[in-house]
Amino acid sequence: MQKIFIGNDHAGPEFVQDIISHIKESGYDVEHVGSFGSKSVDYPEYAEATARKVVENEGSLGIVICGTGIGISIAANKVQGIRCANCISPYMAELSRQHNNANVLALGARIVDVENAKIIVDTFLRTEFEGGRHQKRIEKIDAIKR
Ligand code: RB5
Repeated sequence: MQKIFIGNDHAGPEFVQDIISHIKESGYDVEHVGSFGSKSVDYPEYAEATARKVVENEGSLGIVICGTGIGISIAANKVQGIRCANCISPYMAELSRQHNNANVLALGARIVDVENAKIIVDTFLRTEFEGGRHQKRIEKIDAIKR
C-alpha cells in the first residue's frame, strides 16, 4: 500500500480532515504529520517534517496544505529531493506528475473548493511520471544546490 504523508498549518482544519478521509477511503496508507486543529502554527515546520518523511520513504508521496498552498510549497521545496507543486486544477496535478515527477502536492485550503481538491488529489496520486525527455530536466532540478 502506498504511503502518503500529510502536513498542514492551521488554515482549514476541516479541509484537511476531509482530504485525509478521502485518501484513506481510496485505500492509501496515510500518516498525518500535523498540525492538528486550528491553533496558529508556522507552516515551514510542517512543510519540512512532511518533506523529510517523503525523502526518507522511497515510493511515498506527500500532500501539504496551508491557506494558499504557496508558503508551504516554498518551504517543502527547500528540502533536497522534493519537487512540490501547488495545484489549483486537476490538469496541473496531472502535468506535475507526468512532466515534473512532483512528489509533494500543495493545496490552498482557502483557495480550492474541497470537492475540487479531492479530484486534484485523486489525479495526483493516480498519475505516473512519463520519464523520457522529462528525466534529464528532473535531474537538472535535483542537481541545483544551495
Ligand atoms: C496563515 O495565515 C497563512 O499565511 C498560511 O496558511 C499560508 O497561506 C501561507 O502561505
